[in-house]
Amino acid sequence: MSKLLEVKNVVKKFNTGGLFSNKKLTAVNDVSFTLDKNKPEIFTIIGESGSGKTTLARMILGLESTTQGEILHEGKLVDGKANRSTRMKFMQSVQPVFQNPFEAFNPLKKIDQYLVSTTRELLQIEDDDEVKTIIDENLQKVGLSHTEIMGRYPHELSGGQLQRTAIARALICNPSLLVADEPVSMVDASLKMSIVNLLQSLRDDFGVNVIYITHDLATAYYISDRIIIMQKGLVVEMGPARPILDDPKHPYSQLLKASVLSIADAGNGQLQPATDLIEIVNRNEGQIGKMQTYEGSRHVREYS
Ligand SMILES: Nc1ncnc2c1ncn2[C@@H]1O[C@H](COP(=O)(O)OP(=O)(O)OP(=O)(O)O)[C@@H](O)[C@H]1O
Ligand SMILES: [Mg+2]
Repeated sequence: MSKLLEVKNVVKKFNTGGLFSNKKLTAVNDVSFTLDKNKPEIFTIIGESGSGKTTLARMILGLESTTQGEILHEGKLVDGKANRSTRMKFMQSVQPVFQNPFEAFNPLKKIDQYLVSTTRELLQIEDDDEVKTIIDENLQKVGLSHTEIMGRYPHELSGGQLQRTAIARALICNPSLLVADEPVSMVDASLKMSIVNLLQSLRDDFGVNVIYITHDLATAYYISDRIIIMQKGLVVEMGPARPILDDPKHPYSQLLKASVLSIADAGNGQLQPATDLIEIVNRNEGQIGKMQTYEGSRHVREYS
């Protein structure tokens, strides 16, 4: 296995309660997984709001430090203290895609200018024709053409077009890993599948590993190879996606699935309020339970 990314027992605690308070909130609690460079996959992180998905993504992107544990990218520690050349290599190899494409672009800057400056700065290419060729190639990968975005400002594109442009921008660096934090949640339902299919094609046609963060179990089921299900910072279930989503073992995963199904049933007046179905996990430090291995390399956390 050629390790692309190793997340090892990562913990993130935030100070809460003001300047003089010692109160801490554990946003991410003992999360571990590894991605293989030679076996690109869509690795999905699912969990309710506040379960720590974005915090985990930000640590992987080097935007947030870890409190405990470590994250290695191609064997090198991901942190703010890396030297410039390691940092540049990391920034090319690991690219983010965020939830709101309108926030990813400067509203006052034309989109093609943005792509040109990304190509120049990150790839250090000066030649105009070469820059244009690279931009064209990457727009093509996401199903857009230069004429569609030429001379236009971000607000002149649809959310779906802009999200695809954001992905094209990320692809310019030829990344080996895309960290996509809810990339479809602000995109029209009709365009959702085009983004989801695009993530799949990045894996299959271009060998990119994708960390896909979502609330959306349906798209997760459709494209994921492996998933982790997070609850209050903890991974409660991890393994191959379809068996887990078909037959969740942990009560929280079962609840998550049931709440989706019940939303689908809402039109029939069968909406089940999800919250009173399971007990809240005991989050006292040192009492985080153990992971039990099931068939098919599935891990389920059990609580003492
Ligand atoms: N900078 C911060 N300072 C203090 N607390 C934070 C900070 N960032 C996140 N948190 C807290 O950490 C927990 C996890 O937040 P996070 O944004 O990672 O959740 P999430 O799973 O991405 O949720 P959502 O689905 O709503 O995006 C939350 O309780 C949040 O309030
Ligand atoms: Mg989030």
